[in-house]
Order: sequence, then C-alpha cells, then structure tokens
Amino acid sequence: MTTANTPYSHLATLMAQYSEQRTTGSVVDYKDYASLQRELQALDLKEGAQDWGSIWALVDTYLKYSVKTAHPQYFNQLWAGQSEPALVGSVIESLANTSMYTYEVAPVATLIENEVLSRFRSVFGFASGEAQVTTGGSNSNYLSLLLALHKKFPELKQQGLNNLPNVAVFVSAEAHYSMDKAMVMSGIGLDSLVKVPVDETGVMLMPELEALINQSILDGRVPVSIIGTAGTTVRGAFDNFTRIAEIAHAHDCWFHIDGAWGGGVAFSAQTRTLLAGSEMADSLSWDGHKMLGVPLMCGVLFVREQGHFDRVCNLGDTSYIFHSGAERQDLGPYSLQCGRRVDMFKMWLEFVYYGEQGLEARINHFMQLSELAETIIKDEPTLELQSTRWINNICFRSKHPDTINANDFNKTVRERLYQQGQSLVNIAYLGDDLTIRLIITNKDVTEQDIRQFFQNWLACAASVEEELLQCA
Ligand SMILES: Cc1ncc(COP(=O)(O)O)c(C=O)c1O
Repeated sequence: MTTANTPYSHLATLMAQYSEQRTTGSVVDYKDYASLQRELQALDLKEGAQDWGSIWALVDTYLKYSVKTAHPQYFNQLWAGQSEPALVGSVIESLANTSMYTYEVAPVATLIENEVLSRFRSVFGFASGEAQVTTGGSNSNYLSLLLALHKKFPELKQQGLNNLPNVAVFVSAEAHYSMDKAMVMSGIGLDSLVKVPVDETGVMLMPELEALINQSILDGRVPVSIIGTAGTTVRGAFDNFTRIAEIAHAHDCWFHIDGAWGGGVAFSAQTRTLLAGSEMADSLSWDGHKMLGVPLMCGVLFVREQGHFDRVCNLGDTSYIFHSGAERQDLGPYSLQCGRRVDMFKMWLEFVYYGEQGLEARINHFMQLSELAETIIKDEPTLELQSTRWINNICFRSKHPDTINANDFNKTVRERLYQQGQSLVNIAYLGDDLTIRLIITNKDVTEQDIRQFFQNWLACAASVEEELLQCA
C-alpha cells in the first residue's frame, strides 16, 4: 500500500473537508432516534467488514448526522468550537497512543504535563501547590471531596467509612450535579450534602451558609468541606470566595472552588477579579475544554498544599509498574486513574500557539459578545433577560401572550430551531421558569453570528406564537 491510498491519507483529506464545512450549512441534519437507527446499516460483526469502503461509509454517516459543535450557531454547551493547534495535539496524542502513568512509556508527555501544570498553577494562584490532570470537572470535584475527607479523617484510608462520624458538605443550591455524584461515589451519601440557597443573581447566601453549618453541628455532624462555584452552570454566577474562606477557616473545613467553567476568567485581567478570594481556597477544579475550547477532555484539579494526591491515590503494590522512584517522573501515583490519556499535549500546543495574550484576547472576546447579546435582549421588547449576566452565560426568554404557557412556548422555539438546523441553544430552569441559556464560548463566533442568532430566534418565536394563538 502506498502512502497515497492508506486510510491515513483519506483521513487527512476528510479532516480538511470537515473542518472547512464545520461552520457552514445547518448546525445539525436532524433525525429522530428511530429514523437515524434506520440510516445506520446493520453490520455483520461476526466476520467483520474487512474493507475500508464500509468504514468510510460509516464515518461519513457519523459526520453527516453529528451536531457541528464548531458551527457559529452552536451555543448549547459550556464548550464549543474547534481550535487547530489543540486539534492537532489531540490527533497526535491518539496516533502515538501512550498512557500518562510512567516516564518510561510517556517521556515527552510527562515533561509537557509537568510544564503545563506548573504554568497553570501560576495562572490560578497555586504556584506553591500541586495540580493533577483528571477526566474532567466532575472527577476533579469528586477528587477534591476525597482529599477533604482524608485530610479531616486520616484513619479513613485504612478503616474506610466504618468509624466515620456523620459529616456535612456545603454547596450552592445551583452547584453542578457532579457534587451529588461525588457524595454517592465517596460513600458518605446524599443526606450529608447541604444545599445552600442563593440570591437572585445565583450567589450562595453567606448568612444561610453559616446558619446551616451551625445547625448541622447541633445535629451532630462534622463540617468537612464548603464548595463555592466560579461560574455556575446555568447563570455563570461567582460565589463570595473571601467570605467562604473565612467561614471554612473558622470551622476547620476544606474550601473547594468548582471553577470547571468559570475558572477560565483567570486568563484575562478584565475578568480575573471575579476569582478574588480563590487564593485562600484549598483546591480548585478547572476544565481546559470549556472556556478555552480545546477538545474534550482536559480537566485539572489544583491543590494549595502538596502531598494530598500522593496520600489518597498512591496505593497498593505497584512494583510492576512504577520503577523511577523520582518525584513526579512517574505521574501515575498522583492520579485516581491507572491508564490515562495525554490530555495536556493539546493544551500545550494551544498555549504555545496563542500564548497568554491570545488566550486573554479570547476570553475578552467572549465577554464583548456576551455584552452585545445582553444589549440586544434589553433593546428588544419581546425578549427579557431572566438573570443578571456575570460572564458569557446569558439567560433569557421570549415574552409571551397571557394565553400561552411561557415554558412551553420558549421550549418549542428552541426545539424548532434545533430540528431545522438553524441553531442549538440550551434550556435550563430558574426555579419553575424555563430559561434559554445562551453560552458564547466559540472563539470564531462574531458579532454578526450573535445578531443572526437573535434574528432567527425572533422569526421563529413569531411563527410559533402565531400557530399557538390559532390553536387556542
Ligand atoms: C460548574 C461545573 N462543574 C463541573 C462540571 C462537570 O464538568 P465535566 O463535564 O468536565 O465533568 C460542569 C459541566 O458543565 C460545570 O458546569
């Protein structure tokens, strides 16, 4: 087989074609579950196709019906877009296929991971601490809870939960659901998770936090961790980290910040102040695949004090795998995983290509476009902003005639835009009210794209309203 007709040369052509088309046409060629199932051929997996024609046909179907997450009308998730240097890193990482556990099998990757993490520790104010790559924000939040529990109860490592007192963990009522999962996975259970109410902008209420801590102590519980959020999933709100740090300190609690989404503001002088007080946090989660837009996954957990990862993750007889003995040369002992992908290579290429200034400009660009979106909403009499805008989350909805249910109406508009391939934007709930959550985090989105989104939204809302009024 010559180079010209290897699967890899076809792959290179395909990548170039897809990348060119990713920003044009529909966001998605929508099919419902049953119709899409019919599109996918039944495969004889016993013998295997053993021919590339079948493989490329499947790849074509995959790409044809996948959502174009780099399309400028894709605003659905806390990640979007495509950045070439990071994509190259991601592909090369798969090509060289290694695991991040030993220097022996991943020499360059180990050096790069140590270097990237050291730079990011400085960006996030954890210069003298340590950092560990995780499978994402959920995993970072879980790991932070384990570190907090093991610090408070060193006997946990040997004795497990058997002799543990009742504990309490405090989190914003609008925190990401990974905190609930962390409670279950750690074995301390959902009853020990105390959800603290928030104000009308989504910020955890400090007097309520203190009252709930005092109440849990009266109930015989030991407060273990307070989790603040830097950029909540729906509103993008930032908790009061300075005050949380004081409260955590007074109660000898771990203070964790879930910055999986909003931690990205650290890259810009204009937005960094939102993290004020984070210098007093014990740990902080951050996802490079969210606001910075490198391919999924790219999670990091930063910790203020050294030694925690080793205490919780370095276990068992590992003489058959870890041979170096030197600190941070074999990175496996610091991780919850054994096999682990080289997630920091793509991040490194992104960082090297754009530099700190490029990443700062990217964050500023998101904030400018978000300001524009807010202005459009405020200037348009049929739209309303439903919550104060903190960063690049914009929560809005269409106003509606009294005879129409607001939630159903907005949901219908959103779904119709999706099924017609015009845009993809998410919904969430603020109390009982459905909100349209617009996230601007694709570096290639322009002012024109934002205006286009609202033009499409308004046109669709007008036609849905007309239909609903006719039916009423
Ligand atoms: C605030 C917050 N924390 C954690 C997560 C979970 O991150 P991941 O999807 O990387 O597990 C999310 C995801 O959206 C999030 O918004």
